[in-house]
Amino acid sequence: MTSILGDISPEQFLKEYWQKRPLLIRGAFSSAQVSGEDALISAEELAGYSLEDEIESRLMEKNGDSWQLEHGPIDESKYVELGDENWTLLVQSLDYFHPPLCDLIKACSFIPRWRLDDVMVSFATNGGGVGPHLDKYDVFLIQGDGQRRWRVGHKDQATVIFCPHPQIAQIEPFDADMDVIVNPGDLLYIPPNTPHWGESIGDSTCYSVGFRAPSIGGIVQKLLQLPQTDLDRLWSDEDRLTRQSANGELTPDMSLWAEQQLKQLWTSDDYLMAFGKEVTELKYPEMLEVPSDDELKDWIDLALQEGVKAEPLARMTYFAKNDELWLFINGEWQVMHTSLKPIVEQLNLTFACSADELNALDDQVAHIFLSFAVALGALKPASFDI
Ligand code: SIN
Ligand code: CO
Repeated sequence: MTSILGDISPEQFLKEYWQKRPLLIRGAFSSAQVSGEDALISAEELAGYSLEDEIESRLMEKNGDSWQLEHGPIDESKYVELGDENWTLLVQSLDYFHPPLCDLIKACSFIPRWRLDDVMVSFATNGGGVGPHLDKYDVFLIQGDGQRRWRVGHKDQATVIFCPHPQIAQIEPFDADMDVIVNPGDLLYIPPNTPHWGESIGDSTCYSVGFRAPSIGGIVQKLLQLPQTDLDRLWSDEDRLTRQSANGELTPDMSLWAEQQLKQLWTSDDYLMAFGKEVTELKYPEMLEVPSDDELKDWIDLALQEGVKAEPLARMTYFAKNDELWLFINGEWQVMHTSLKPIVEQLNLTFACSADELNALDDQVAHIFLSFAVALGALKPASFDI
């Protein structure tokens, strides 16, 4: 597969653009792949997903300076009422629900899978869009059918935030460094906190491959869930309480105690464990097909005969520690043999591993790995559909 970065190497992209500067790549995807009859998703399919309860969607309409927002599920009758202009439908996490969109994930394998969040798809009529705004995370905007005009500023540009609707955060129109019309297959990379503003020219679709980064709050939550975390240590004030303490004053030794306890609560291995769990956790784990307990053995036998395919929605990451490989898959963790390292790396990069490569492993090592990864829906025998 040729790279979606065109003439730019992944190394150059990561060094010069990632998290730093927006970038437009013309023809990153072929127009046949992302638009027209064989597009990854049609406007009708998109509207269909917006009717479903479990899928997050938004319909935004603009009327002069006034904005309306409706969250899904959208009632089918709404589509009859809508005019021909100035509205957009955005449907979130469709990579979980519409497998052809996983091709977009595979095309981004030069970024670690655990940094990827989901694929959102928008359909907009002429003039439609979400207005000028900022996002916290990186995003690849891939133009599907039709055209859009994008105005893009630079990272951390001074902007004025305002809310034209209680649930819509926008910024005032800003000085754009880039003002372009994108065509089917073009890709626009937007770094975090970079003003951008897309307006549809006629009807158009846009695929957003959104990235995520773990927050310290998320890591702390995972730390708190580690079974070895001892949260029952109590403050002791033996020889510390005085008659004056009854006046209610708290003293600095109390914050010192809390600080010292917190430092002792977790080791660097615990931090790593929390990080691995946090970044591999899935938004909709139930959407992954997993074998029943009875099927697991057959799937593993088949995997050893045919090789395996990796489920693009799954997240697999590892930490090489002395003579162990700490393997994290979909928020779960297990210690594995280091000989699996090249296999895990290959699966992340190419989404496949042959029977010969699996059989070159020690039998027990291969079985432990496959039992873990197949049971979690991260790997399937090569002949299965993904
Ligand atoms: C859109 O698809 O219209 C919105 C994408 C974005 O600006 O993040
Ligand atoms: Co955005």
